[in-house]
Amino acid sequence: MFSALISNALMNTRSNGPDIFTYQQRQKGVVLPQDIQLYRENLMPLQEINPINDQLADIIVRADEPWIETEPGKAWVKVLWTGAETGRWVVLFRWNKGYVAAPHKHLSDAHTYILKGKLKVRDGVLNTGDYDYEPNGVLHGKTEALEDTEYLFICEGPIVFFDKDGLTNYLSWEEWARMKEAAKAGQDTALNVSAGS
Ligand SMILES: [Fe+2]
Repeated sequence: MFSALISNALMNTRSNGPDIFTYQQRQKGVVLPQDIQLYRENLMPLQEINPINDQLADIIVRADEPWIETEPGKAWVKVLWTGAETGRWVVLFRWNKGYVAAPHKHLSDAHTYILKGKLKVRDGVLNTGDYDYEPNGVLHGKTEALEDTEYLFICEGPIVFFDKDGLTNYLSWEEWARMKEAAKAGQDTALNVSAGS
């Protein structure tokens, strides 16, 4: 017999989340072990397990993926992922001490996580293990590696670079994807931009 309690609990679960029985019900002792068992047996999956797109697969970049040199002897990048549909991109930056990235404006928000080193970002310093969220539209002046630094950069869209005369460069997932392809092909991968936080 499918009790009203279970029926209500299932409806409550589907609309409100996994906490199926109310605090009052538990306090009153009206939730019995068999109620919970019955709930489990009758809880239907909320979606079909098999995905419509059976071509889905993880994308793995191994640790020994070679760095791409973007400024000789000073800066390197590993392009971990570029999102053709969303415009997002994820890279690892490696900057030697003293490297300075040009001023830029974010046309999307971005996440930075310092894996090692020390990065001077505007008025502050990011140290190993620090995380920085950069909002869409924010302006950033020069960014300097105070030590040999590596950081993970997750960017939701493009960045534009500028100087006192105006825009100087544009960087999106497409530039990274092309550079990665060029690197694979063994072509010259030097960039004329200084990307990153
Ligand atoms: Fe930035």
